[in-house]
Amino acid sequence: MSMDDYLNSNIGGLYMSNLLTKLHKLALELSISPHQILIIADNFKQAMQNGLSGSPSSLKMLPSYLNKPTRKEIGTFLALDFGGTNVRVLLTELLGQGRFIVHARAGKPLTSIVEQYNHISRQSTADQLFDFIAQQIATLIKPDLIYPLGHTFSFPTDQTSLNTGTLIHWTKEIETTGVEGEEITALLRAALIRQNLDNVLPQAIINDTVGTLLASAYTNQYTDIGSICGTGHNTAYIEPCAPWTKQPMIINMESGNFDELPFTSYDTLLDMHSEKPSVQRLEKMVSGHYVGELLRIIACSLFADGLLASCSTKEILNTPYILNGAHISNLLEDDSAEYESIAYLLENKLGITGSTSVDRKALKDIAALVSTRSARLVAATYIGIIHHIDPNLTKNHNIAIDGSLYEKVPGYAATIQMTLNQGFDTKKREITATLTKDGSGIGAAIATAIAVHKDK
Ligand code: GLC
Repeated sequence: MSMDDYLNSNIGGLYMSNLLTKLHKLALELSISPHQILIIADNFKQAMQNGLSGSPSSLKMLPSYLNKPTRKEIGTFLALDFGGTNVRVLLTELLGQGRFIVHARAGKPLTSIVEQYNHISRQSTADQLFDFIAQQIATLIKPDLIYPLGHTFSFPTDQTSLNTGTLIHWTKEIETTGVEGEEITALLRAALIRQNLDNVLPQAIINDTVGTLLASAYTNQYTDIGSICGTGHNTAYIEPCAPWTKQPMIINMESGNFDELPFTSYDTLLDMHSEKPSVQRLEKMVSGHYVGELLRIIACSLFADGLLASCSTKEILNTPYILNGAHISNLLEDDSAEYESIAYLLENKLGITGSTSVDRKALKDIAALVSTRSARLVAATYIGIIHHIDPNLTKNHNIAIDGSLYEKVPGYAATIQMTLNQGFDTKKREITATLTKDGSGIGAAIATAIAVHKDK
């Protein structure tokens, strides 16, 4: 062995051992122990109870004016889904007992570089946004028919009835002006009139978590929790005795704002540079919009320490939000010996050349730590909810979940179920989590059926 080879192998060994030490430290920082799960569940339950009783709480506990569906809801309705990434419109026929047909669909992303529009930036206005939404509705309807419409509006909305809700503030980094503090159904109705769509009649406004709960409860009698693990994160549940009516009611907790959590320095950094620091702290640790950014921040710190030094073009990683939840999935899906698809992703999607398989494995390990932490934190909040609604575990419970993380990130759904199983005596009762796709669309149709029926 030449002197150079000798030095290189030692430097290589040192670099590997520093990298392993750093990954080990990250694993300790990002793992959530069973004891922490119990503490978080307990704090979450307490925050729910504080919010319900009007004491200060990070949980908004917003009323929906809806209870569980009877499963007899029928009829044909327009469902509008506005979640922050796309606008989708579904013409849905409910057939009762969990059956439905989607007759037609339309939709568009809210931003397009090719078509040169962006309806969610600070430069866009409420009228522009709602005109765009109305234009998507127009593609599905005939002028001579009347269309009752249910609107899934996936933001913190203070509702005074099933059909009226004021946007408290934007989340998910949306910045369109003139919407915060406004009554959303009025904005929609005005845009429908501007677009000559006065045959479209908004009847209900719901959160996507409420829609997911409704859609699942339309088929599954045990569903009493609905949650989104996608671009954003939030959960709704059926409160047995809602403070407003003393009746059962679905409550949108806006649980993405929960903040009694074990933050790391990476979470603090992400929060500091986010659009709205100090709010949505749980969402910033768990949701698709942020987990990629957390991975990027952690990867940058490895670069800074010279631990991913083989990647020759790392500047791209200085771009905030260049990574998202889909990239976490891509990293975790690659089981090949040399992590070829990660190499492909780095080179062709992110422009990072010259990575080694050691770098790629390290990125995959970090993605696994970030996504496992997300699933365990979310599951801890579900445990807190069940402790609140059914402290003696007298019933089975099903948690209906929608969203790209839950559906697509390898191991995510399994980690949630495993954490739930560890939290309860599953020999006594079944606590399940199930994927509920299109909950926003079907849920809005169910809410509209309930609204239309009420008016009769
Ligand atoms: C954000 C919104 C919330 C929504 C969630 C999932 O947290 O504030 O209303 O349910 O994203 O889309």
